[in-house]
Amino acid sequence: MSASLDINAVRQEFPVTKRLLYLDSAHQTPMPNCVRSALSEFLVEGNEMAGPKPVWMRRVEVAREKVAELLHASSEEIAFTKNTSEGLNIAANAVPLQPGSTVLMLEGDHPNNAYAWLHLKRKGVKVKFVSLPDDQVANADTFADHIDESSRVISLSHVTFHAGQRHDIEDIGRLCAKKNIYLVVDAMQSVGVLPVDVKKLGVSVLAAGCHKGLLVPQGTGILYVKQNLQELQPVYLAMSSLANPPEDYVARPAEMTTRRDAGRFEFGNFNLPDLHALTRSIEFIQSIGVASIEEHVQMLGDRLIEGLDELGVALVGPRQRGQRAHIYVLALPVAKWVNYLTQNLVRVSPERGGVRISFGAFNTPDDVDQLLGLISSRMRKRVDTDGPSGAMD
Ligand SMILES: Cc1ncc(COP(=O)(O)O)c(C=O)c1O
Repeated sequence: MSASLDINAVRQEFPVTKRLLYLDSAHQTPMPNCVRSALSEFLVEGNEMAGPKPVWMRRVEVAREKVAELLHASSEEIAFTKNTSEGLNIAANAVPLQPGSTVLMLEGDHPNNAYAWLHLKRKGVKVKFVSLPDDQVANADTFADHIDESSRVISLSHVTFHAGQRHDIEDIGRLCAKKNIYLVVDAMQSVGVLPVDVKKLGVSVLAAGCHKGLLVPQGTGILYVKQNLQELQPVYLAMSSLANPPEDYVARPAEMTTRRDAGRFEFGNFNLPDLHALTRSIEFIQSIGVASIEEHVQMLGDRLIEGLDELGVALVGPRQRGQRAHIYVLALPVAKWVNYLTQNLVRVSPERGGVRISFGAFNTPDDVDQLLGLISSRMRKRVDTDGPSGAMD
């Protein structure tokens, strides 16, 4: 176990761990106490004091600074959105693309990323899908041979939801810099779980929702837009997107210059309770340390893989440390296994390749052993009744 992760203290923050074996953080993380308290405080303020909104708005800027710290960006490079999809759609519509421009993506990557770019078909933009086996991770070589003079963007997940691959974004970032291609990253599964340094990774735009690794309820997303990319301009516009919004609230067609910072991609009011809670959740994550969370979930992965090998259950995604993070898909038939695990108070997700197990900072080696014990006991029962051929059903 990671020396710096105090598992008892972390588990105290997640009361759900007393009720369930929660192995589904890639779907949604349980709410920690610190987020619940922040939301409760917001409710009291709204209920008893009707705000005050200026205080709430100042907290948005505190949250922005926290997100910037987490991503190793500057706060001018951070915008708040509704979710990952909104961030990816903002990117797809902001990058200057011409008819015939090509976007490179991975086959089978999250559909919300794919649709953002596929929707540009009506403008003559093409999406080229590169195939990659589920047990491999993408690096520069994956894309290099597919790049030609029409290629303008590579867009992919940092960690994939369907097989847990942790793509080598840094290597792809170097390729993009060399070829003058924008790199857009869907960090929904990685942010809050792995260290994410947007400068080191060479990312142009990064989008994520906040209800997984960032631990707040659905409805808030973060968007990083690299500072010097002023050619990226928003499609939607509101007062908050403008460099000089009219103080008298009368729109002036002659003065519509957008802000230079990432705030040009924001429009309208924010999800204030979520953003209030986001500061607390990031402080909580920082108190554990993202590197410790990364080490912890990989250690749980090591133990899971070892146990699966003993049971003869295959893993869909990569086995090697560094190529995986907190998501492990077990090649077991979903229909038969998800119900069984649910009946035993284990929360997992059905996935295209099998049963998806995903860890959070609150999971323990004992959680892994309990899961392996349940799998083993059902396999043994089936062998007793069906003979060895029934073992993988
Ligand atoms: C990689 C990835 N991207 C995007 C999403 C979802 O996008 P959104 O935040 O828009 O709901 C998920 C899962 O919910 C995901 O795993």
